[in-house]
Amino acid sequence: MRTTDARVAMEVTGVERPPGGWVALVGGGPGRADLITVRGLRLLRIADVVLVDRLAPRELLADTRPGAEIIDAGKAPHGHNLTQDEINAVIVDRGLRGLGVVRLKGGDPFVFGRGGEEALACAAAGLPCEIVPGVTSAVAVPALVGIPVTHRGITQDVAIVSGHVDPSHPGSTVDWDALATGPGTVVVLMGVAALAGISRELVKRGRRPDTPTAVIHAGGTADEVVLTGPLSDIAELAAEAGIGSPAVIVVGDVVRLRDQIAGAPSARRAPDIPDRRG
Ligand SMILES: C[S@@+](CC[C@H](N)C(=O)[O-])C[C@H]1O[C@@H](n2cnc3c(N)ncnc32)[C@H](O)[C@@H]1O
Repeated sequence: MRTTDARVAMEVTGVERPPGGWVALVGGGPGRADLITVRGLRLLRIADVVLVDRLAPRELLADTRPGAEIIDAGKAPHGHNLTQDEINAVIVDRGLRGLGVVRLKGGDPFVFGRGGEEALACAAAGLPCEIVPGVTSAVAVPALVGIPVTHRGITQDVAIVSGHVDPSHPGSTVDWDALATGPGTVVVLMGVAALAGISRELVKRGRRPDTPTAVIHAGGTADEVVLTGPLSDIAELAAEAGIGSPAVIVVGDVVRLRDQIAGAPSARRAPDIPDRRG
């Protein structure tokens, strides 16, 4: 970036930016725009280029600076999503041109976010790349609806797995046997399409059919839907309710706590706090 650009940017944002290009992989948190970290928001406000993911909270784009280039990685000009290689190429291209690049992701960049691949692409290009962790949907979406993924006396064990590949598929690399016979909470991301197979296999391989299970669609947004039921029936209940992606599935006795936690008067939301431009 040229010095004059830096001065203009400082006048606009009040922040002096380092010379040269930089990249930050920023976790935008799940659903709600105010769950991004302070560091993530600060970098978003000074970025020249923002590549935004489909599930990143879109309201955050209102915080970008005037003139910033916004690239929707989930919607390319020809109607298809950018491939990971294309995303890596854009990040590296803009960074090498001396621009400040924020790659804004849903949740945390390193939890099924392909952030590792983007960080490696930057490393290969010799570009500085900062990882700004985010609040992952795997833990936060259950929390937002009153489900703690661990709880003293219930479980101290939680696994976060991808449900993208049906457990009965030969290409599945998740250890469903261990998850089915273990005592812990199982949190499944990207598992709605395979929910029937996941619940069937967990029961077949050892989980109690009555294990409390929750499916939380679009957590933290106005479209949020929470469904609970026994593991053996959850796929049918979700299909009847028309629940689609994105959703977090939680399997385990901790789900039972939701009635007490979310139903308590203390579960009412704390006040919204005016933004003082962190
Ligand atoms: C490709 S993974 C990315 C996860 C993300 N990096 C994170 O840490 O939350 C996408 C999956 O995350 C889950 N997910 C993300 N945001 C969600 C939300 N607001 N409500 C429910 N599920 C969500 C869904 O399982 C979705 O299919």
